[in-house]
Amino acid sequence: MASPAPSFPVRIVRAEQAAADIHLFELRDARDAPLPEWSAGAHIAVRSPNGSLRKYSLCNDPAERDRYVIAVKRDPHGRGGSVDLVDNTRVGDTVAIGPPHNAFDLAPRAASFVFIAGGIGITPIMSMMRTLNADGRRYRLYYLTRSREHTAFADELAGGDFRGKVLMHHDEGDPERSFDLWPVLEKPTGAHVYCCGPRPLLEAVRDMTGHWSKAAIHFESFVDAGAAAKPDDQPFTVVLARSGDRIEVPPGVSILEAMRARGHEAPSSCESGTCGTCRTTLLAGEADHRDLVLMDDEKATQVMICVSRARTPEIAIDR
Ligand code: FES
Repeated sequence: MASPAPSFPVRIVRAEQAAADIHLFELRDARDAPLPEWSAGAHIAVRSPNGSLRKYSLCNDPAERDRYVIAVKRDPHGRGGSVDLVDNTRVGDTVAIGPPHNAFDLAPRAASFVFIAGGIGITPIMSMMRTLNADGRRYRLYYLTRSREHTAFADELAGGDFRGKVLMHHDEGDPERSFDLWPVLEKPTGAHVYCCGPRPLLEAVRDMTGHWSKAAIHFESFVDAGAAAKPDDQPFTVVLARSGDRIEVPPGVSILEAMRARGHEAPSSCESGTCGTCRTTLLAGEADHRDLVLMDDEKATQVMICVSRARTPEIAIDR
């Protein structure tokens, strides 16, 4: 299932800066009713005043039923949704949200957890660590940011139940000062690894965990087809082998979105190439893989239709 569309109103009761370019919003039901239940790692879709729809992870404690807290990175180079939400809403305003959806949930039987957060990727991990603190379960967080002033939740993570479980590293924008994750990931330990952050961090962790059990490595990213678009993307045709339908897929639109626009459904969850739900057999043509799921030996015969495109003018898939 994709994230549900915004369906109910919530009131902004608190809005404040949490770090450079990162803004915290506390949302409550517009009629002060309890909010739908959720689990650690979940996100909601938020409609900003200009109609943009974006997903934001919940970062408070899932045990709280009276509020949702999100942290929004104001990205002037994005597609405008985050800037609109930060600049054009005030405390007291109402925005429409969808119910929580989780494509990044905690493994219930894992003995321990390694969290790797890059920048705003800390948000789902905050709710996960709050849940683990309450349950007394083991974890360690590696939190990688540009500088202390770009680090949301820095004060909170330095104390309380987080004390001794968090390593923060600031590279000051210098690639030479990147944190070396290899000593952390070199030996599979039985822990489950959860990584959320920018694409290069996700790819680095994927490359360093090829020798881990696939089931123990989890990624989340909110890069959708539009945000993942490249300037030289070309339109292509996807052929749905079961019906024979031929569908044009323009730049900035995913195969999945193009299929839906023509009335075809397919299972999906993260819609950012990280969960594997939309895995589809590739029957002909060459895919331009943009997911973090497929192994090299699967790429000739499988494709993640939520983010990947085609290198050939036409591809055929088993849908
Ligand atoms: S829906 Fe998660 S990889 Fe496509």
